[in-house]
Amino acid sequence: MKLVMVGSGYVGLVSGICFADFGFDVSCVDVDEVKIARLARGELPIYEPGLDQLLSENMAAGRLRFTTDLAQAARNADAVFIAVGTPSRRGDGEADLTYVFAAARQLARVLKPGAVVVIKSTVVVGTCRKVKAIIARENPGLDFSIASNPEFLREGSAIEDFMRPDRVVIGVEDARAEKLLRRAYRPLYLRDSPIVVTSLENAELIKYAANAFLALKVTFINEVADLCEEVDGDVQEVARAIGLDGRIGPKFLHAGPGFGGSCFPKDTRAFAAIGQTNRAPQRLIETVIAINEARKQRMADRILAELSDPRDAKIAVLGVAFKPNTDDVREAPSLDIIPRLVAAGARVTAHDPEAWTHAQPLLDNVSWAADPYEAAAGADIVVVLTEWNAYRGLDLKRLARHMRGRVLIDLRNIYRAEDLSDSGLSYVSIGRPRIISAPPSSSGLARKDALVS
Ligand code: UDX
Repeated sequence: MKLVMVGSGYVGLVSGICFADFGFDVSCVDVDEVKIARLARGELPIYEPGLDQLLSENMAAGRLRFTTDLAQAARNADAVFIAVGTPSRRGDGEADLTYVFAAARQLARVLKPGAVVVIKSTVVVGTCRKVKAIIARENPGLDFSIASNPEFLREGSAIEDFMRPDRVVIGVEDARAEKLLRRAYRPLYLRDSPIVVTSLENAELIKYAANAFLALKVTFINEVADLCEEVDGDVQEVARAIGLDGRIGPKFLHAGPGFGGSCFPKDTRAFAAIGQTNRAPQRLIETVIAINEARKQRMADRILAELSDPRDAKIAVLGVAFKPNTDDVREAPSLDIIPRLVAAGARVTAHDPEAWTHAQPLLDNVSWAADPYEAAAGADIVVVLTEWNAYRGLDLKRLARHMRGRVLIDLRNIYRAEDLSDSGLSYVSIGRPRIISAPPSSSGLARKDALVS
């Protein structure tokens, strides 16, 4: 079976490479010539654990090609997946479908009869029908099918998510498209991944509703964390206990600095816009968006509140990616928080194992360190902003020795009280009491200090 993936961004690349790994013949297409040239040399434009190996294996096996020539690639394709970007439209927040429609117009003239066009990009409800109408108008009489197959990949664990999904969602209106997509995902049957076959509209809605709900869950626990701070509670213990209720579930209950990334912010805005357009306002999600925006600002205020005068201070920030195991900084809390620290007059030195090259052009007046200890040198405050594994095992006594001040602000709750003991650090986290640890010379016992929290 010949598959074409239009758009070699995150979703297109991961899906294309994984479909090739299933044994299908895959062509990945993009308009970006530099990107395609790099891919054709076996170089990945994104960082995703394990993807480089799958890329080289499947290229070597002759199942995976990269091209800018959509017409040539699509001519013999059994299915063409559209996985181009759908950025937020300025003004109303709805997904911008320009690239999706442009791809549809190009495909109309080259598709072979019987081909299936599958929309993988996250699109507004009703888009599949619009794409179908565009193709039918451009090439009347062409026999083709349309399908929706939204993607639920998480950055950093995208291969695992593709290979072992909680479910595959397929929106179709005819048996041909269903048959083709069932075949494309057949390797997953062995792993008992449920395939949900539904209408085009439902499939489009499922993607938005899933991401909106997850963003709501994260925002809920963030607000519970705020309450914990006021009443001397511990959000991790509360989250663990509520997560044991099977109706709630333990995932996406980690309090933090607010959600970011390429999906949650964009998809919540689009979902809210779809609700407004269709006279069914999604008021919960509208509130989630507002709370999350305000939260990032509050995180900066919280850091600054630890300083008597920010103009005289140095702050070390560990992690700028929106989450670990990715070099992605799109809508990362770091991009809101760090400029506020700089604007307040603080000198900021940052570190990130992968994302710093992407963040550097976006963050003015920030110095970049080669490792966390170098970042901490002379700092009054060290802030953990992304929960990279590399930060979980830091030698906190060594970190403290490098610092001028003694405050460690952990916006991801990666340390426990016992990790702090003997470090001499004053530890501020999210939704948990402040811990003031004795310096190495004294008793070494960490004590909880509810008064300061
Ligand atoms: C998300 C969805 O999970 C995925 O199904 C969809 O296809 C794309 O959007 P992704 O953006 O890669 O994936 O990251 P995810 O792991 O979901 O995290 C999103 C944001 O929420 C991050 O900023 C993360 O730090 C934050 N988050 C997540 C929390 O703050 N707490 C949590 O408990 C979980």
